[in-house]
Amino acid sequence: MCGIVGYIGIEGKTVQVLVEGLKRLEYRGYDSSGIAILEKGHTKVIKSEGKLDNLLKKLSIHSFNGSLGIGHTRWATHGTPSERNAHPHVSGGTSVVHNGIIENYQELKNELKKKGYVFNSDTDTEVISHLIEDFSKNGSSFEDSVRGAFKLTEGSYAVAIVSEREPEKIIALRKFSPLIIALGQGENFIASDIPAVLPYSKRVIFLEDGDVAILEKDSFRITDLNGQEVKREVFSINWDPVAIEKGGYKHFMLKEIHDQPHAVLDTIRGRVSEESGDVYFEGLENIVKGVRRVVAIGCGTSYHSCLIGRYMIENIAHVSVDVDLASEIRYRDPIIDENTLVIAVSQSGETADTSEALLEMKKRGARTLSITNVPKSKIARESDAVIYTHAGPEIGVASTKAFTTQLIVFYLLSIYLGRHTGRLSDNEGRRFIHDSFRMPQLLEMALKLDEVIKGLAMEFYHYKNFLYLARGINYPIALEGALKLKEVSYIHAEGYAAGEMKHGPIALVDESMPVVIIAPRDGIVYKKVLNNLQEIRARRGKVILITSGDEADELNTQIDRLIKIPDSSYMLSPIIAVVPLQLFAYYIAVYKGTDADQPRNLAKVVTVE
Ligand code: M6R
Repeated sequence: MCGIVGYIGIEGKTVQVLVEGLKRLEYRGYDSSGIAILEKGHTKVIKSEGKLDNLLKKLSIHSFNGSLGIGHTRWATHGTPSERNAHPHVSGGTSVVHNGIIENYQELKNELKKKGYVFNSDTDTEVISHLIEDFSKNGSSFEDSVRGAFKLTEGSYAVAIVSEREPEKIIALRKFSPLIIALGQGENFIASDIPAVLPYSKRVIFLEDGDVAILEKDSFRITDLNGQEVKREVFSINWDPVAIEKGGYKHFMLKEIHDQPHAVLDTIRGRVSEESGDVYFEGLENIVKGVRRVVAIGCGTSYHSCLIGRYMIENIAHVSVDVDLASEIRYRDPIIDENTLVIAVSQSGETADTSEALLEMKKRGARTLSITNVPKSKIARESDAVIYTHAGPEIGVASTKAFTTQLIVFYLLSIYLGRHTGRLSDNEGRRFIHDSFRMPQLLEMALKLDEVIKGLAMEFYHYKNFLYLARGINYPIALEGALKLKEVSYIHAEGYAAGEMKHGPIALVDESMPVVIIAPRDGIVYKKVLNNLQEIRARRGKVILITSGDEADELNTQIDRLIKIPDSSYMLSPIIAVVPLQLFAYYIAVYKGTDADQPRNLAKVVTVE
């Protein structure tokens, strides 16, 4: 989704902050970009279609001295990706960058046209700059014009605005789209996400819906849309700026795959006691008391972790779990009561579908818990309690370390629930916790497959279709493996429950169809999946088997490729089994020459429905 950066402070520093910030937001996905700088009270706007490099080329032939400005990377919603539709949009002396959708823009546009405003783009955003300009022309101050304009708009927005009339201020607003301000010494910042400003400031305020922030270089205020001051807490972010660099890897995706042993360890650390067999999560006690049923919701990869979470919670805590796509549950009539715990899972904590579903479930009386990676994100704030994954910033659009840390949280949560409902003994608790301690080391071992998987990708990257099959707790890993391949390499791939093969998809199998089978040895469904393997071989399908254990070698003659992963307990096997699939998707993307970090049409944070 679009990225916003704003800066006010030191003369001559503005372009650098805006451009570097936009670069750090590239992972969100975009198709055009632009900046507006105020210099001696005059606006300079440069915009470009395509990647930021195009904008940089244009910027290099200008010089800039301004001490404030706003920048934007656009992900098209209204109007094609083009320079004309790129932000900032300017009306008179007002420049605006916007993330979100103004739902009543057509109505507002008609009114503004009647007043003589000329529209230079097909965007919904342009109504904002004209509306503010209209209020200003009628004598309102910059702040009052902004508030006046936004009282008329419906929809979602994160916005940053500068005005030639008051060139010592930036105004930022938020409603349903993420926006933060960061505080410096003699300078202040606005951004859609923390990484954009992390090298300059770790003191961050997360704006809330309806907030209007007025930033000057030495001060800031936050009000509501009526001008009433509101207080917001300043948070210290302990993310390391180095963690958002590629650290010698060619892509963020590869770095983040290799970050997993640490990320999983950081997510377990300080939350478990092997001595007592207990798991500790702050603020969860009241929420889990008397829970009869869990409903887990999420989108994309986060939905897949919910599917695995179901196996864990049902098996370890013996609590019944339903799983739904966040984008679907809102359009059903789910049976929710006060004994239902709704768990919303989201890496970004800002996914519109998940956040809306969470609010709807809350309205229906559910208790709510979120599992997210981003501190103080929307979903974290909207739920009754939150468990953070400690994956660190995930920049690659394809979710990798966020996924495995979500899985370890589900595992720990299952133990927590089991212990609190009395269904899990101390001894069982100890055993489960002990198994979790092995995960960082097992992940390290799985990552040693890197070169082998690279070779495998070389062999298979020209195939047009793939099937991924698994059963039991690894069935969602088949879905996740297929999703990873689709999104980064643009190859068609389908994940299927292996037992369902004979009910339809087997018709697709021939020598041009590689089938990736995920069957860790410890699995209770191992033998059954091997039967499916024979069915595929009989139809000349190419089989890549991902399995574990010493007996795996015996299978080597019956399949095309054998990938041996380290053995773990059955409940934790998905965390290991997904690693070769992440690497496979990554290297296929590299061989195909697609952009693994920013695949086409995708955005890291999906803030529109
Ligand atoms: O931030 P979230 O976890 O809520 O995002 C949900 C999906 O958009 C996300 O998992 C998406 O499917 C990824 N690109 C998958 O790699």
